[in-house]
Amino acid sequence: MCGIIGYVGSQDVAPILIDGLKRLEYRGYDSAGIVIIDKEAQLFRAVGKVSNLEKRIGSHPLVGSLGMAHTRWATHGKPSEPNAHPHADCHGRLFIIHNGIIENFQTLKQDLLDEGHTFRSETDSEVIAHLIEKYYDGNLAEAVRRALARVDGTFGLAVIHKDHLDQAIVARRSSPLILGIGDGEHFFASDVAALVKHTKRVVYLDENEMAVLTPHHFTIGSLDKPDLVHSSSRTVHVDWDITAAEKQGYSHFMLKEIFEQPEAVRNAFRGRLLPAKGTAKLGGLDSVIDRLQAAHRIIIISCGTSYHAGLLGRYVLEELTDLSVEVDLASEFRYRKLNFRYGTVVLGISQSGETADTLAAVREAQTRGALALGLVNVVGSSIARETSAGVYNHAGPEISVASTKSFISQVTILTLISLMLGRLQKLSLRDGKAIITALEKLPSQIETILSNADEILRIAKKFADYKNFLYLGRKYSYPVALEGALKLKEISYLHAEGYAAGEMKHGPIALIDRQLPSICIVPRDSSYPKMVSNIQETKARDGRVIAIATQGDDKLRSILRVEDGTDEIFYIPETLEILSPILSVVPLQLLAYYVADLNGCDIDKPRNLAKSVTVE
Ligand code: AGP
Repeated sequence: MCGIIGYVGSQDVAPILIDGLKRLEYRGYDSAGIVIIDKEAQLFRAVGKVSNLEKRIGSHPLVGSLGMAHTRWATHGKPSEPNAHPHADCHGRLFIIHNGIIENFQTLKQDLLDEGHTFRSETDSEVIAHLIEKYYDGNLAEAVRRALARVDGTFGLAVIHKDHLDQAIVARRSSPLILGIGDGEHFFASDVAALVKHTKRVVYLDENEMAVLTPHHFTIGSLDKPDLVHSSSRTVHVDWDITAAEKQGYSHFMLKEIFEQPEAVRNAFRGRLLPAKGTAKLGGLDSVIDRLQAAHRIIIISCGTSYHAGLLGRYVLEELTDLSVEVDLASEFRYRKLNFRYGTVVLGISQSGETADTLAAVREAQTRGALALGLVNVVGSSIARETSAGVYNHAGPEISVASTKSFISQVTILTLISLMLGRLQKLSLRDGKAIITALEKLPSQIETILSNADEILRIAKKFADYKNFLYLGRKYSYPVALEGALKLKEISYLHAEGYAAGEMKHGPIALIDRQLPSICIVPRDSSYPKMVSNIQETKARDGRVIAIATQGDDKLRSILRVEDGTDEIFYIPETLEILSPILSVVPLQLLAYYVADLNGCDIDKPRNLAKSVTVE
């Protein structure tokens, strides 16, 4: 959740670290810190955003070519300057930056206090600095290894020491750590986004590995063994463009990413459609296609927005195949006593590929004998590497904490998987071709919706002062309702509830009055008549409605009071029922964006949140 960037080489390191921090700020932003070691260690930390750290540094000249920096998302200890990373040992000789949680830190801390170490923070992380100090006898790598052997929990760790001006040590367990390979210089980061400006050659550290970086060399090895070896064959090329991780004139990353959605859908199906055969080909699943064909049960596990994509995946998989499909929140999955028989497939969906709950659930499923697959955006991420096979989104970096283009991409790819499996079963060539034709129209249909963004802005202005919102949908539009509500609450801090429209009469209808607008997702599909009844029930109780409806739906207009301004309709183009979420979610993303913006919220960095949730 926190961000790490570091460097060892010959350049002036300060601008590299500050720029890297800005690119990582979306991972956590309750405090930030930097340390550069030259003749002396120069340590600065500040509560709040990176801009506060810059103010704290002020005109102080930062000198040196070895350093590292951190953005924090607090787990242990409130956001404060002493709790911000980097943390030092007792004598300020070595510094550590840590992402993750040290579960046995209380015991370790007590032992270290008894031995005379002085702690300056409330964090769990600081124990690592003191443990390394305890074991240090001139060999920093060995001290790090011995310290980490005492630690229970998770870490993405970076360590530098005053006695080793040409060395940085990094290690990982369940928290990402990536090496950036340069010429006469090396970088390390928690996230590719911080590296691509400097190098596209990276090495992803594996679980329980550590690495020693010097300007001209890097070695990697297991945390369990003392031997570290140079391994250039581990270097992979990252194809992310630096401009993809910049705002390019948009006021926020979220808005930019909403407008990138036509391309995200195109990238999701590019090269994967076989129109003549009415099917899809997903190269990442080739190696497991026999097991997939033999599967009788798929369990989709994910969190947040990716969970909503999973809910949609269930509808479409059930529609196009004979599979029995379950969807579970990754954080709940592990508590179920599931009986896995041969033929169970678990699909983990995650934009970041690092979400701790999803990663843990995927691992759990694998140990219980399931075939684990991943649907992941970040290439080389933990879920991508730990699953047996999978599909990449190719949606490009998603920087905004609020997921948008990754959702649309996930739903598109779930449709491709369903189409491919359906065609291997009973789905007809004709139906397969119709789905492909409709898929290919989606990018331009999303562009049509985006060209009407001003209309959503107008609606947002009318409703931005309301404090509570209800999002209603049925069948394919139910997960869209959940997603629309999540978008609004996470970036505007307004109360928004997504509900299955059919459940309204079982309780929530009691809430309806003029102060509770209902956003009703009502495309013309198989659940349309029942959804219209729900809207009428809302209107009968004086509720205000914002409807997302199919172009040309005049019947709905006649039910709503649009002319006097009480209600609103926003039209989306017609598509197949299974694809309607890919269109209907777009106005909801825009509505959330504009309402949050009108309320002056920090859209790309909503309070208390982080982009990648690497704690359980
Ligand atoms: C949604 O806008 C949030 N960013 C959040 O719910 C997110 O979808 C969730 O944390 C899962 O992340 P992942 O897709 O990277 O696993």
